[in-house]
Amino acid sequence: MTARPRNLLWVAVLATAGLACSGLQAGALQPPTPEFPDKDTPEASIFRGSAVFQNYCLKCHGPLADGNGRAAKLYTPRPANLVKSDKNDMYKELIIRRGGGGMARSPFMPPWNDELTNEQIRDVVTYLHSIAEHPPE
Ligand code: HEC
Repeated sequence: MTARPRNLLWVAVLATAGLACSGLQAGALQPPTPEFPDKDTPEASIFRGSAVFQNYCLKCHGPLADGNGRAAKLYTPRPANLVKSDKNDMYKELIIRRGGGGMARSPFMPPWNDELTNEQIRDVVTYLHSIAEHPPE
């Protein structure tokens, strides 16, 4: 008879765990959260663009995109500070596709046209727009 309250306790524990599990399953069917915005929104483009930036641009332009990546000191001129850039989105897309060499600038800025998909380029430009302090219109 003394075991009975303990059994009841286990029933309560298991029931709670069961509720938590069904809660998780329901969570999987929820609409997109802010961490994973719907794919056609600007937020999703910024999210994907930041991943492109981290993979391909960070070592020169730095984690804060201020031109202070680990490899930055190897280059003169230094990689641009993309937070304080005075260039518009169209110019950025062009230099990203053609590289510095294709824009009468330093060839140390590599051309990405053959490396990245059109979507990746669009996304990284959207990302750069979102972090620019005074994005020119
Ligand atoms: C190997 C180093 C290196 C890598 C990697 C690199 N860049 Fe650059 N980037 C540079 C340098 C150097 C400049 C400055 C060129 C100059 O001033 O002539 C530059 C300039 C730029 C500019 C011009 C900004 C302005 O205000 O004029 C943009 C935009 C840019 N980079 C974006 C990117 C993006 C996006 C990536 C990743 C897809 C990337 N860069 C990867 C070195 C790099």
